Amino acid sequence: MKIRTVFAGLVAATFSVMAMAQAPIVIKFSHVVAADTPKGKASEFFSKRAAELTKGKAKVEVYANSALYKDKEEMEALQLGAVQMLAPSLAKFGPLGVKEFEAFDFPYIFDDTAELHRITQGPIGAAMLAKLEPKGIKGLAFWDNGFKSFSANTPIKTPADLKGKKLRIQSSKVLEEEIRSVGGLPQVMAFSEVYQALQTGVVDGTENPISNLYTQKMHEVQKHLTLTNHGYLGYAVIVNKKFWEGLPADVRGQLETAMKEATVYANKIAQEENDQALEGVKKSGKTTVYTPTKEEKLAFKKAMAPVHIKMADRVGKDLLQSIYKETGFDPNKL
Ligand code: LMR
Repeated sequence: MKIRTVFAGLVAATFSVMAMAQAPIVIKFSHVVAADTPKGKASEFFSKRAAELTKGKAKVEVYANSALYKDKEEMEALQLGAVQMLAPSLAKFGPLGVKEFEAFDFPYIFDDTAELHRITQGPIGAAMLAKLEPKGIKGLAFWDNGFKSFSANTPIKTPADLKGKKLRIQSSKVLEEEIRSVGGLPQVMAFSEVYQALQTGVVDGTENPISNLYTQKMHEVQKHLTLTNHGYLGYAVIVNKKFWEGLPADVRGQLETAMKEATVYANKIAQEENDQALEGVKKSGKTTVYTPTKEEKLAFKKAMAPVHIKMADRVGKDLLQSIYKETGFDPNKL
């Protein structure tokens, strides 16, 4: 009897140790946009591939639409280890003290995605991610969204049309200057609050890639959208460094492969998602979409060029010059 009890106990203990050994490593991946955006889809893709490649040893739980945290809180939660993975927009690293990332906020610094990728997928991008390490953050990849356009309730054809308008931006000193350069009043606000602020008139307008505008239904509360494409908005996928380095090496390697695949996927679908969102906005009939002429676009570029001069010291003149060298942008020659 006694032997049987001991044996039963041993069997139970063995099973519970086995169960513990099989319990997946949970990675909470939080973000602030809708699931059907480039970032939303890429994070789901990563989750699926992570499960497949680790054979269930890692489970990536994706929380979209600020379900866990709003903009600023999510960065703090990552540093504390309450959430393991995020993909904040590049503008959100300035407030963390890594001002180099605000280089991405400079107006018209990239003409297109090919120019952008020379930075994000090259050595300058890698050096920027490395700057996150002293903050307890490991940067894994850059994911695209797209170029931002302005929306408001009145037509926007010239920079003067934004004069005196309260325009929501992300928390970035460079974006504040960008808005001031066209005479607007920058209003910093969390992404999850923008729809309501536009609806109630707390702000007059905003800037975002069309995929963000459309999936948050901002076009339903904005009468005009002008395709200014005046600045870039994309993401850095980041993890809590201690958590990442504490993972079993095989699992970490498989997750790195999943991340590489997810990055290819993200950067492949981003443009398509924004194109489809623009179609959706047009079809809704709620917003008038305006494509500026070449001359009109140049007027925006010229109005915003002083931001490059004024904010150069903030992100570092050398860094800016090395980006200009890759992209060919010159704020003095417009
Ligand atoms: C915003 O706050 O406008 C963006 O950063 C949202 C996002 O993550 O795309």
